[in-house]
Amino acid sequence: MGRLTLYAETSSAERPGAPLLESSDPQQIAELLAARGIGYDRWPVQAELPEAADAAAVLSAYAEEIARVQASGTYPTVDAIRLSPDHPDRVALRQKFLSEHTHAEDEVRFFVEGRGLFCLHLGAEVAQVLCEQGDFLRVPAGTRHWFDMGSAPRFSAIRLFDNPEGWVAVFTGDPIAESYPLLD
Ligand SMILES: [Fe+2]
Repeated sequence: MGRLTLYAETSSAERPGAPLLESSDPQQIAELLAARGIGYDRWPVQAELPEAADAAAVLSAYAEEIARVQASGTYPTVDAIRLSPDHPDRVALRQKFLSEHTHAEDEVRFFVEGRGLFCLHLGAEVAQVLCEQGDFLRVPAGTRHWFDMGSAPRFSAIRLFDNPEGWVAVFTGDPIAESYPLLD
């Protein structure tokens, strides 16, 4: 289950103070994030899905929830990815999204298993959302954020896209991500 930790924004090279708020209550996380323009939901976990299930099996297991999201938004493209701790490119893949960036498209993710840390820079706050099995997150286009998959990444996630070709990171050049806790 996910966890939200809310911090005040810091200026560069300054450590953030104690969290303003921490919550593992899905309802409270959804309300706090909704008030900040971020979508959060819990999907019922499909326990019968084996951990090594391929992308087709993952998409099929969550077809109902995917259809619901696609009906409410504009995400015609959907895929499923898996990263394991022995991935040869894990260091480069982790580094790729570890600095603050934005996308011209929404970033929409559902965590089938494993975990990842989404860090959202929202006005004068930073919201760290630890996403775990069953967590759905929708980060609107233009939201400043970074993502940490950890030094030994292990997750499987469903991704929904407006247009996967348009989903590229535009780095802000703000070093703020260096001040906040990482996944490990
Ligand atoms: Fe991103």
